[in-house]
Amino acid sequence: MKITVIGTGYVGLVSGTCLADVGNDVLCLDVDANKIRILNEGGIPIYEPGLEAMVRRNKEAGRLRFTTSVEEAVAHGTIQFIAVGTPPDEDGSADLQYVVAAARSIGRHMKDYKVIVDKSTVPVGTADRVKAAIADELKARGVNTDYSVVSNPEFLKEGAAVEDFMKPDRIVVGVEDARARELMHQLYAPFQRNHERLIVMDVRSAELTKYAANAMLATRISFMNELANLAEKLGADIELVRQGIGSDPRIGYHFLYPGCGYGGSCFPKDVQALVRTAREAGQGLKILQSVEDANEEQKYVLAKKIVARLGEDLSGKTIALWGLAFKPNTDDMREAPSRVLIGELFERGARIRAYDPVAAHEAQRIYGDEPRLAYARNPMDALEGADVLAIVTEWKEFRAPDFEAIKAKLKTPVIFDGRNLYEPAIPRAAGLEYFAIGRK
Ligand code: NAD
Ligand code: UDX
Repeated sequence: MKITVIGTGYVGLVSGTCLADVGNDVLCLDVDANKIRILNEGGIPIYEPGLEAMVRRNKEAGRLRFTTSVEEAVAHGTIQFIAVGTPPDEDGSADLQYVVAAARSIGRHMKDYKVIVDKSTVPVGTADRVKAAIADELKARGVNTDYSVVSNPEFLKEGAAVEDFMKPDRIVVGVEDARARELMHQLYAPFQRNHERLIVMDVRSAELTKYAANAMLATRISFMNELANLAEKLGADIELVRQGIGSDPRIGYHFLYPGCGYGGSCFPKDVQALVRTAREAGQGLKILQSVEDANEEQKYVLAKKIVARLGEDLSGKTIALWGLAFKPNTDDMREAPSRVLIGELFERGARIRAYDPVAAHEAQRIYGDEPRLAYARNPMDALEGADVLAIVTEWKEFRAPDFEAIKAKLKTPVIFDGRNLYEPAIPRAAGLEYFAIGRK
């Protein structure tokens, strides 16, 4: 099949590459000429495990190409994915300007039947807006051609994006007409793996499904974070409580890990957007507002623990920081808890010596040549001249450190662990003070 992907970011690049990998002819479009240049020159603009080799393989096979030409992109695919960003507006609602601009470009250039697939996370009713924007452009050109608008939200997780796309739990498709439904069945047939993964529904339900999934997952995390804070006050251990409740199959073990708050480009903005949608519909979502509030507060939990132990004035102190990305296996720092911690530490006069296996270049982009933030080459190097160690991302390489060596390096041998990486007895046996989230 001929497929165009508009927006070559995390979702667009992964989707386009995976669709090419099963034999489709894919053209990816982006307005960011630099991104397209990097991809055309054999590079890759994001860190995502397995993606670079897959891009290379499909480019070499001639199934995957990149362009900035809107005209060429719209002419190419019968299926046109819209995978542009939907960042939060000032009021928390999803900013649809990029989605509408993409829809308009399609309307401005299309000549024959197309299925326009909304892959971006968009509020209920967006497919109608996309349809109207295209109709508008077609009318202005005096062109009369059929088209369908489909909602096909994406559930991939950064860091496991290729695997998630190639082996999905489910593929949600909101579609209103038989022709588009048939094409979507054909498109996703290679990803079915032994049983039907396609869940076909109406467009509005599909749009809501995406927000519902992220809101439910965020709710579990905020619930566990609040419970962890309570466990600390009551002298209970959240890790044992997690195992105790997770063993109930109705609850399950996934997404029950307390920590220093959820970040990323999805949960924070999608929770806010759904709260906003509910408010506009006159249907409060009290639970979700609390999920958001609890998460905002949770991002301060490590800073509070550091201040409780070292005092308000941190001038002259250096904090070693393990992790910058919002989660492991990505260089993405959007809404990362590390950013709140870094801000709080700077405010109190501290310096930071950070190590992240892949996100340092992203931190450099965000913080420029900030003199209070130094970048270390490896975890132990981050401890050079540091007073204490704080951990915000659970990278695998942090899981089994040499605690004796950490103790020897730190001026005040304390670890503040925002991701509950260690059994507390182990660092303590090495003579370290150990503060985690909700652990005894
Ligand atoms: P991103 O910011 O990484 O990429 C978006 C890309 O779209 C950018 O490269 C931008 O230059 C390009 N773009 C903007 N306007 C354009 C236009 N008119 N024409 C062509 N290109 C244009 O965003 P992302 O993380 O890939 O997210 C995209 C959407 O997918 C969002 O709605 C997001 O909520 C959703 N989503 C993201 C994830 C994730 O893990 N990142 C997962 C599921 C869903
Ligand atoms: C999320 C959804 O999981 C995915 O389905 C959707 O398509 C996009 O949004 P992503 O943001 O890439 O994916 O990462 P995810 O693994 O969900 O983690 C989000 C945040 O929650 C991270 O900051 C992570 O550290 C935190 N988290 C996750 C917890 O604090 N505890 C957990 O138990 C799980």
